[in-house]
Amino acid sequence: MTKSFKRYTVTAALPYANGPKHIGHLAGAYIPSDVYVRYLRLTGQDVIFVCGSDEHGTAIPNQALKENTTPRAIIDKYDDLIRTCFEHLGMSFDIYHRTSEPIHHQTSQEIFLSLYNKGLLTEESSEQYFDPEANVFLADRYIVGTCPKCGHTNAYGDQCEKCGSTLSPRELINPRSTLSGKSPVLKLTKHWYLPLENYEPWLREWILKSHQEDWKPNVYGQCKSWIEAGLQPRAMTRDLDWGIKVPLKEAEGKVLYVWFDAPIGYISATRALFEEVHSGQLKFATPRRDLGKASKDDWKKYWQGSDTRLIHFIGKDNIVFHCIIFPVMLHATGEYIVPDNVPANEFMNLEGDKMSTSRGWSIEMHEYLADFPDKPDVLRYALLTNLPEAKDSEFTWKDFQAKNNNELVAILGNFINRAVVLTQKYFENKVPLQKNLQAVDKKALEELSQYPAKIAASIETFRFREATANLMDLARVGNKYLAETEPWKLAKTDLNRVGTILNIALQIAASLSVVCEPFLPFTARKLKDMLGVGELPWEQAGQPDLLRAGSALYDAPLLFEKIEDAVIEAQIKKLLDTKRTMELASQPAAPAKTEISFDDFSKLDVRIGTILKAERVDKSKKLLKLQVDTGLDVRTVMSGIAEHFSPDQVEGKQVTILVNLAPRKIMGVESQGMILMATDKDGSLKLISPGEQVSPGSVIS
Ligand code: MF3
Ligand code: ZN
Repeated sequence: MTKSFKRYTVTAALPYANGPKHIGHLAGAYIPSDVYVRYLRLTGQDVIFVCGSDEHGTAIPNQALKENTTPRAIIDKYDDLIRTCFEHLGMSFDIYHRTSEPIHHQTSQEIFLSLYNKGLLTEESSEQYFDPEANVFLADRYIVGTCPKCGHTNAYGDQCEKCGSTLSPRELINPRSTLSGKSPVLKLTKHWYLPLENYEPWLREWILKSHQEDWKPNVYGQCKSWIEAGLQPRAMTRDLDWGIKVPLKEAEGKVLYVWFDAPIGYISATRALFEEVHSGQLKFATPRRDLGKASKDDWKKYWQGSDTRLIHFIGKDNIVFHCIIFPVMLHATGEYIVPDNVPANEFMNLEGDKMSTSRGWSIEMHEYLADFPDKPDVLRYALLTNLPEAKDSEFTWKDFQAKNNNELVAILGNFINRAVVLTQKYFENKVPLQKNLQAVDKKALEELSQYPAKIAASIETFRFREATANLMDLARVGNKYLAETEPWKLAKTDLNRVGTILNIALQIAASLSVVCEPFLPFTARKLKDMLGVGELPWEQAGQPDLLRAGSALYDAPLLFEKIEDAVIEAQIKKLLDTKRTMELASQPAAPAKTEISFDDFSKLDVRIGTILKAERVDKSKKLLKLQVDTGLDVRTVMSGIAEHFSPDQVEGKQVTILVNLAPRKIMGVESQGMILMATDKDGSLKLISPGEQVSPGSVIS
């Protein structure tokens, strides 16, 4: 980095407020950005950290339809859920804003108009798919059809999920509207386009030439292939009734494209931050430092000052928007800065499969927090050690357990605990004096002095996995030092020596309390309280005398606790159960049968009966022989349920029985009726019992 910057604007992708977010999102954008910003703050940098809910786009009305409610109710519900989870996970935004706020509508419209007034948007009328029955233009996601590339019959208008091809709705064979199921018609509509191709020379210069060295290869590579494939004009408006109105008279009924307004959300959030601080009325802002003297207009420094370093943290599916489209918008206005880096991560898989909320294969933030309310740092750590920085990675519950038990508990927690407990035992909970230093002591202090710079270098280059590993290595230095010096064996013979050793161990602990803060903020807090140190700047970490001899230590709660196998097994089971439920829910019900008359129906004599006895039938895997009290009589029914129920599972149960079915011989036994069953979508059978006990023979009609 040759340029020098005065301040930082750090953004984390605005999550769609259309549902809960999972730990893959945390690993993609959120935890890394939080580590980065916490580190910058500790080094005294002028930094603001903004995020918020992305509340427009078709995803929101889509979800409203599914939940049978309004888009407004959806965004309120999920904004609240996501906001709360982020807080409990220690995300330290200066503001978590919302794109439904008026100031954001205003900012987005201003930027649109600034481009429009400069003549930088092109207008084009084109034929778009329209659903005449629902009376709306269809967003790409609302059109499905056969993929022209692989023949998959349920490809979306923008993408085939089977072969991964990017599509446009017109390429689909046999398109259907997902709203009405009918084929859509083409209808003329006008839209405003950002002519990306005009910016190709600028993009080549800015990204391909100047950022070859400092951007991550996965990010740089994606940008390069986009630019080289040839950039196309991109529509910045949509026919939709949920979103920000296009501020032009002739654009009735049209809204800004969600990817036009969402990234502007970073700017609106920054404006809101300074307005709230200025007015003293904090609504969405929780500024992490004193912005007391700031003026309302100071947001401009963070977006328009060429001495500001803008960094976007995102997941890989957002690269083109943050590296090409949004920068072109910003650059075209002539007023805004563009990002200096976009350290996008790849995806995190879960237990061998892609993470997906809709398929039920995910760990949602709120569910993790409900099950492990006092362990936000354990999740942060497990994710950090396994971030998909260079390629997709994988979260497993076993690994989560191992990271907790073998590293947080056994290394970091154990080291701190030994240092503190021995100090309590031999020195009345006061930091002992450092006396004559031996070679082993000097070596430990020397190693200690190097770690903060090592960790910092990894963070500054966005290598958070490496930074986390370095952090744990510092705790290992502490453990190794105690193992080599064995202070517990020397207490009787040389208490001065024990004092020196514990002093050094506590110095290591104090440095850990500083450098672990970006990664494990809750632990850092506890550790600092325990050691009686205040908020120390990063530059003091690594020093041999952070703790003064004689200063008191405070109560030592355990920093981490072991997670048992049963807890992990329960999580894996929960995952499998949720997946099964979702799979069943997404399968269609059996097709409807042809209509019958009431007379046809009333011929059936269906009653409640009680199974008195059940036994297996020789040479048959499928059959149970049942004795059923039908209220009329006790009769024998041969029922094909032996693969689903054992005899004891059905004996005594009330069931539904068709009693006037003509008798039939099965395996040599006459069966006098039929037990009715519900067949679930996966083929499993369930008995149909009355909601409460009724007399055998009760007629069902
Ligand atoms: N909501 C988008 C997503 O979840 C991210 C938007 S980032 C922003 O993929 F820049 F547009 F805000
Ligand atoms: Zn396909």
